[in-house]
Amino acid sequence: MKEWPDYFDIHDQSDACMRIKSFIDTQMGELEAYNDVRNENTHGEHTYIFHEHAMRVAENVKRTCLHMELGPRVAENMYWAVLPHDIGKKLLPADIWDQEEKPTGAVKKYRRTHTILGGQIVEELLHDVDHPMKDLMVDIMRYHHEQMDGQGTLGVDGEDLSLPVRLVAIVEAYDGWRIWRPHYGERDISPPGVLKRMREEKGAEIFDMDLFESFAEMKMNDYKEGRILQDN
Ligand SMILES: [Fe+2]
Ligand SMILES: [Fe+2]
Repeated sequence: MKEWPDYFDIHDQSDACMRIKSFIDTQMGELEAYNDVRNENTHGEHTYIFHEHAMRVAENVKRTCLHMELGPRVAENMYWAVLPHDIGKKLLPADIWDQEEKPTGAVKKYRRTHTILGGQIVEELLHDVDHPMKDLMVDIMRYHHEQMDGQGTLGVDGEDLSLPVRLVAIVEAYDGWRIWRPHYGERDISPPGVLKRMREEKGAEIFDMDLFESFAEMKMNDYKEGRILQDN
């Protein structure tokens, strides 16, 4: 299994890192532009805005890495690698994301192809770049909706998922459940409410629980100290 990415620095001045960072900036701009297309369908009423979600997830992953004392280099590499994890979404028709009702299995499956599509965007636009940051980015893109019990989108076994992927899967799910959507009804979406739901209803079948508890501890420290930003 791949360990935490402490073996390179995304901020070094190499051509590869500069290309990758500029790729990420461009892709995030395109994801933001995709939101305007969704706005046309929803009149701006959708609450789950992808580029904002990506920035919150990246920030929470970075903060969890620092909380686990993995060091600033790992935290920063992870931050940048997480930002583009959902860019594949913008290749799908915008109206599939904004339905009032809970998505059916088929719709969910179609939406989840964004993981593979994201990996394809990287392979296409950075085909001539050979750098571990690219591999980390693609690893996270492809597998962030996998589960420890092997019942995720692609059916990959939990033991084959890297630690970075496992952490992103947790933080990503947390963020999704923190954003109220019509089919949530009266559900408690406060930070403690979501953490409880993740621990009790989903738990070890889906998540790496050691990593989950590190994330939950970081999040609850923030919450108790009033450091939870809006929707974060
Ligand atoms: Fe995703
Ligand atoms: Fe996501």
